[in-house]
Amino acid sequence: MASNASRYLFLFLIGLAMGIIGTVMAMRAIDARQDHFPSSVMEVQGWHVHQLKAATEQNRCAATDTLPHLQALRTMANDIEPAFPDLRDDQRFAKHASDLRATLDSALANPPLNCAGVGTTLASISDNCSACHKEFRN
Ligand code: HEC
Repeated sequence: MASNASRYLFLFLIGLAMGIIGTVMAMRAIDARQDHFPSSVMEVQGWHVHQLKAATEQNRCAATDTLPHLQALRTMANDIEPAFPDLRDDQRFAKHASDLRATLDSALANPPLNCAGVGTTLASISDNCSACHKEFRN
């Protein structure tokens, strides 16, 4: 016959397991209600910036290495305002997004052809990212 102690331990473990399952279910429900579009746009932008950085570190700065990332950044920069419906009407927010697009437009019009050029372009892009983040990212 099981002792009281092991019975209590058994009940305790059942309670613990149910608590964990309940917490995970609640967290997933909360997560599912959130709009992932804004953070997805930003994560993808971050990924392309990271690829450009890696290209300079590996000395792979031919136009074929870097242009696709600049193009992806430019295309997705169109989605910044739609991704943030609460902020899109803020003049300063729109200006930051527009500044980023301008930087990317001039980079695409006059593509960097070596790592020094990619580095300079990256610095301007990062300035645009952080200008908006300083003001609008919590
Ligand atoms: C016009 C404003 C604006 C510009 C420009 C901008 N961001 Fe953001 N970014 C935001 C805001 C607002 C958040 C906070 C979003 C949130 O938490 O939902 C954010 C969050 C992020 C995040 C964190 C995402 C997450 O998981 O919540 C990353 C990564 C990021 N931005 C990368 C970039 C990069 C890289 C650039 C430049 C190429 C950039 N952003 C340009 C406004 C901007």
